[in-house]
Amino acid sequence: MDNERVVVIDHPMVQHKLSILRDRDTSSKQFRELVRELALFEGYEATRDLPLETVTISTPICDAEARQIGGKKLAVVPILRAGLGMVDGVLELIPAARVGHLGMFRDEETHEPHVYYDKLPADIAGRQVLVVDPMLATGGSAAAAVGYLREAGVKGTIKLMVLVAAPEGIEAVLAADPDVRVYTCAVDEGLNENAYIVPGLGDAGDRIFGTK
Ligand code: PRP
Ligand code: URA
Repeated sequence: MDNERVVVIDHPMVQHKLSILRDRDTSSKQFRELVRELALFEGYEATRDLPLETVTISTPICDAEARQIGGKKLAVVPILRAGLGMVDGVLELIPAARVGHLGMFRDEETHEPHVYYDKLPADIAGRQVLVVDPMLATGGSAAAAVGYLREAGVKGTIKLMVLVAAPEGIEAVLAADPDVRVYTCAVDEGLNENAYIVPGLGDAGDRIFGTK
């Protein structure tokens, strides 16, 4: 695996919360809370390399040079539906970020992704983009989302934040675009015959929204 382009968040707090998330007996309410919290922790790591600029501020004591985040503004792009569960956590960290929605579903038979909705910020091409979706299984949805964003003019590194990834999905998305970096809390064993992640956590969208 390309270590430069894959970041696994192995912090003990993250691993603990992820274990509760995986448990089949975790309620939808707790599942939603954990997805939000994990997105915040992961967002902290995914923004580690944001550029800083120096500004002059006035403390109650004197003027001083201080550092603030500079460079391109950010956009968070959740892949609907399940990606919605991660948005609030990321926005807690980056309140000024714009949110662009990308609706995709996997065909249950072919596992191919389909775009059914998009609403991106008009200036998306000039923004740094964080794509959020809890699950990276075959990688089809994430690769299609990245391709869609490139078509929309997004340049530079696209950061893909997921909570659980299969090795196949990571390979697929890295192969689809040379400038994607994947952030994940875990790399699982692989996929089952229905292209679900093993051991995974089941269907993230259904568990967030209580649809099953
Ligand atoms: C899930 C998940 C990803 C996708 C991952 O969404 O949230 O978007 O599947 O699978 P892939 O890597 O094989 O493409 P799903 O299609 O179940 O839609 P949902 O979010 O509406 O539940
Ligand atoms: N989508 C999910 O929600 N879970 C999986 O394991 C695979 C795709």
